[in-house]
Amino acid sequence: MNSNTQLPPSPEGYPIVGHAVDFGNDPFGFLDRATSECGDVYCMELPGTDVYVLAGSEYLEQALVTDVDAFGKTDDFNRVFGNGVLSTEGEQWSRQRGILQPLFHPERVSGYADDMVAATQRRLSIWEDGESRDIESEMQDLTIEILFATLFGRDLAPGDGEDLRDASDGLNKWFVPTSWLLPHWVPTPSRREFSNSESRLRVEIRQLLAEYEYAGKSGTVTLADQIGDPPSESQSGDSESETLLSKLSEAGEATGENHLSREEIEDQMLTMIFAGYETTAAAIAFALYSLATEPNVCDAFHEELDTVLDGSPPTLDDVSRLDLTNRIVTETLRLYPPIHTIPRQTTREVDVGDYRLPADEQVHLSVISVHRDQRYYDAPLEFRPERWTNGFEEELDDYAFIPFGGGRRTCIGREFARLEATLALATIGQRFDLEWTGDETDMAIEPEMTTKTQNGLPMTLSQR
Ligand code: HEM
Repeated sequence: MNSNTQLPPSPEGYPIVGHAVDFGNDPFGFLDRATSECGDVYCMELPGTDVYVLAGSEYLEQALVTDVDAFGKTDDFNRVFGNGVLSTEGEQWSRQRGILQPLFHPERVSGYADDMVAATQRRLSIWEDGESRDIESEMQDLTIEILFATLFGRDLAPGDGEDLRDASDGLNKWFVPTSWLLPHWVPTPSRREFSNSESRLRVEIRQLLAEYEYAGKSGTVTLADQIGDPPSESQSGDSESETLLSKLSEAGEATGENHLSREEIEDQMLTMIFAGYETTAAAIAFALYSLATEPNVCDAFHEELDTVLDGSPPTLDDVSRLDLTNRIVTETLRLYPPIHTIPRQTTREVDVGDYRLPADEQVHLSVISVHRDQRYYDAPLEFRPERWTNGFEEELDDYAFIPFGGGRRTCIGREFARLEATLALATIGQRFDLEWTGDETDMAIEPEMTTKTQNGLPMTLSQR
């Protein structure tokens, strides 16, 4: 540690409320102004708490890699995901990650491609030419269907499992900006909504596990239809098609290193449902919004699909040839990072640049600030998939593009998410042209746990 003693600067604010009003009114606008005023390390003063924000690629690298032990997970993770792999640390985390990792091995993920396309086609089968839909909520429905088809081995037909979808979405409510501004014990309406959703989701999860175990043990399938179609025998217990459910259930029976307690099993399910669908839904939805508002890119995208796919549904083999589609996904993850902020808490005093952060303080690694910084990206607020050509990514500063985090806690589902987003976009773009019907100035985004819109993404669907 060097000899810094200086605390990071704070942008201009008001007495008592600090930055609460500015941040509450326009969270991302506030971050932008604060970075221009103070640089890459600053302190946001909220009632009862200070939050230190890091907004430069080298500091994100420090927090995620080089000084990772000084930046632990925050209590919020634990409150929301219990002892799931997203929140645990140390030996418990490495044991859990070791158990789950095989499900996300690139080879295993490739095997999910057909299910991803089939689930997207099922959702498209309820879309009608000329109708309007909110694409943000459509993509949430789609990605939860894909998650169930792949990791749970279950077909969740459009319209099924409404409770589960609602309850999963409610987990986000812990992170709405108004709740960030108040101490944890204040029962805001959104926190009550969160608690309610969490209890409902746990009931659904216990039922899923009980059904899986019953089906596995008896060899028969007598599942309540509440959550969707029952799994076929090969989906439910057979090692040929290992799913998250089979993996977790196996870990429940294992001993030693490979064992997970009942509570840990439920927490992994909760974590995977939440981490696995809202994030990818945001990526696909913002990609579709960008295509709908950038006609030139959209024309080139359709042309690529028509040439590469030649009228057949996309397959795994097509993915590497869908060059523009892949770049559209990358550029969307940059401009609209589904995880806009990676929260941490200092475990000790730590020097960052010219400043010293005290121990036990909240730190926000601002992914969105770095992704929209003109030091790394020309015209950073423009959607330009073409920037990801001619070795641009190799030249880019390390940690200037970190939609999936970095270091040892990097996203376990990143290959899964990229494959899903590329295949879903291709399947949708092959069949539909989407027209943005909202007001251009209306497309405001706001930070919940994931990046959300304020008013949805209304679009008219035209069959191609
Ligand atoms: C575009 C989609 C996605 C984005 C942008 C995203 C982003 C992230 C980020 C930034 C982290 C790091 C969090 C931290 O360091 O605190 C993370 C971790 C994680 N993600 Fe994702 N994710 C996506 C999709 C998925 C999917 C599809 C799954 C699972 C099916 C998943 C499961 C997880 C898990 C379990 C972790 C915790 C890993 C650990 O701490 O060991 N994510 N994700």
